Amino acid sequence: MGEGKGFGKTILFGEHFVVYGLPGIASAIENTTIAKVEKAKKFEFIDNRPEIPGYKEKKKEEIQNQIDALLEHFKINKERNSIKITLSGNLECNSGIGASAALASSIARALNEMLDLGLNDEQINEIVYKAEEAGTGKGQVSGIDNTCSTFGGFILFEKNPQGGKNKIERLSIKKPIEIVLASTGITQETKKVVADVKEKKQTNEKMFEKIFREYKETCQSAFDAIKKEDWKTVGKLMDKNQELLREIGVSCKEIEEAIKAGKKAGAVGAKLTGTGRGGYVLFLTPGKELQEKVAKAVEEKGFKTLKTLIGSSK
Ligand code: MEV
Repeated sequence: MGEGKGFGKTILFGEHFVVYGLPGIASAIENTTIAKVEKAKKFEFIDNRPEIPGYKEKKKEEIQNQIDALLEHFKINKERNSIKITLSGNLECNSGIGASAALASSIARALNEMLDLGLNDEQINEIVYKAEEAGTGKGQVSGIDNTCSTFGGFILFEKNPQGGKNKIERLSIKKPIEIVLASTGITQETKKVVADVKEKKQTNEKMFEKIFREYKETCQSAFDAIKKEDWKTVGKLMDKNQELLREIGVSCKEIEEAIKAGKKAGAVGAKLTGTGRGGYVLFLTPGKELQEKVAKAVEEKGFKTLKTLIGSSK
C-alpha cells in the first residue's frame, strides 16, 4: 500500500504573456489530490475527487492516458499483479487549477512509496511531466503544473523559445498566504483565446510592444516582492497585470464584476487567472479575516468561491 499527494496550482502573473516567452509566476495552492494505491488481482481505478459537473467525463481519455503512462513507467501490468488506485482530496477538478498534474503527482508518489523505490522530488517531477505529456500531447506541457504540483511553493517560469526545456526557478516562503478564487462558471477554450490574442497582436504590434515592456517590469518586481513577502506590493502588481490583460482583450464583464466586488471588500490585489474571458478570478487576501470578507462579498454577487492558500509546500 502507498499514499501520495499532489498540489493544485494557480497562475499569479503572466498568463498569455508566457506564450511569447515572457516570464510568469505560479504557485501551488493548499488544496490537494490524494492517491492511495494497493496491490490487487486486476486493475481498478476509483475516482472520488470532487469535480465541477462533467469534468471527469470530458477528461476521461486524458486521465486514462496519464494513468497508462504511469503504469508503464512503474512497470505495472494492468492484467496481472495489478493495482487498485483510489483518488480523493479537497482539490475540486476544474480547468485551470492543475487537477491533472495533481492526479499524476499523487499517483507517482503513492507508487514510489508502495514499491519502496526511494525516488526523490526531481525524479517524481520528471515522471509527472511525462504523464502530463501523455495526457495532453507532446510539446503541449509547459512544466508549470507538474512543478507546482510536485514541489509546492512558487515558481518563476519562462518558456524556452527554442522549444527545449523551459526555465523554472523555485521559491518557497515562510508562511503560506490566503487567497480567494472565484469561479465565473464560464469555461473557455484556451486555444481559441490564445489565437485571438495572437491575431490582435498582429494588427497592434506597437501597442503590444509597450504592454509587453510594462508586463516584464511588473513580473520582475512581483517576484522580488514575493521573495520579501511584501503582499501589498504583490497585490498592486496583480492589479497592474489585470490592466494589461484587459488591454490584450482577455477579460470579460463577469471577471470585472467579481474584481469590483472583491476590491471593494478590501482585496489587496485582483486579477483573472488562467485563460481568461471566464474561468477563475484570483484575489490576494492576506489574513483569514480579509479572506472571509472578500469571499462573502464576491459570493453575494453570485460567484462560487474557493478559500485557499498560496505558497504551500509539503
Ligand atoms: C492558460 O492557463 C495559460 C495561458 O497562458 C496558455 C498557456 O500558457 O499555455 C493562457
